[in-house]
Amino acid sequence: MRIGFFDSGIGGLTVLHQALRFLPQEDYLFYADTAHVPYGEKTKEEVREYILNAVDFIAKHNIKALVIACNTATSILIEELRSRYAFPILGIEPAVKPAIERSEGKQKKVLVLATRLTLQEKKYHDLVHRTDHGEIVDSLPLPGLVQFAESFEFDENKIIPYLKQEFSPLDLKQYGTVVLGCTHFPYFENSLKKVFPSDVDFISGSIGTARHLKRILEHKGQVNQGTGDIIFFKSGVKVEDTCTLDNYQCLFKLLDEL
Ligand code: SIN
Repeated sequence: MRIGFFDSGIGGLTVLHQALRFLPQEDYLFYADTAHVPYGEKTKEEVREYILNAVDFIAKHNIKALVIACNTATSILIEELRSRYAFPILGIEPAVKPAIERSEGKQKKVLVLATRLTLQEKKYHDLVHRTDHGEIVDSLPLPGLVQFAESFEFDENKIIPYLKQEFSPLDLKQYGTVVLGCTHFPYFENSLKKVFPSDVDFISGSIGTARHLKRILEHKGQVNQGTGDIIFFKSGVKVEDTCTLDNYQCLFKLLDEL
């Protein structure tokens, strides 16, 4: 049986990339809802429909677990999804707690970067309320980075001016840790590093999600000895053109180099 991965687009590959490190012999199904990306700028009701349709489709493929490799989808629908399906469903949340622990040591603040929808959601506000006792967490939506990633635009000459513009109201020296609270954002870590002071740490939830996935499969005695085969779907259509598949391999390579 395969492990399903779901995202609005190619951001989920940053989580799959970590899963391949922890569970290289699993077989995977990756579903990107590219017909509807970006989710982060749409209404919750619209996005809910898209996710339910996609997960219904994925569930028909005999999977043993599903990773919602999308912060926005996790924040609006993870509980509902868990109540609908029998297989384990893991999500990804902004890594606020570890970021606070790191920043407190440096007497600095935390900046959470995510989509507008993620930052609006009760799940995010509850997370901050539970963890941010010193009120050191700020947040900022960066919708442009999702668009850049989806158009395979990683050129720092384009990305860095956008980041500088978005960060211009903030004093970046006050931050010790930046949370990459959208799975599309790790692709831009090198550009982000060039904009923030050099002592800033960047943290995403993808390693935690991949570790958690491994623990669940071990606990259920379901670790596979497969070949690491991945099949890709874009909004319900199997990806077979070599150009797109090559692009995905390039993204894994880009992540390897970070
Ligand atoms: C988006 O589709 O806007 C990004 C989704 C995410 O939060 O990873």
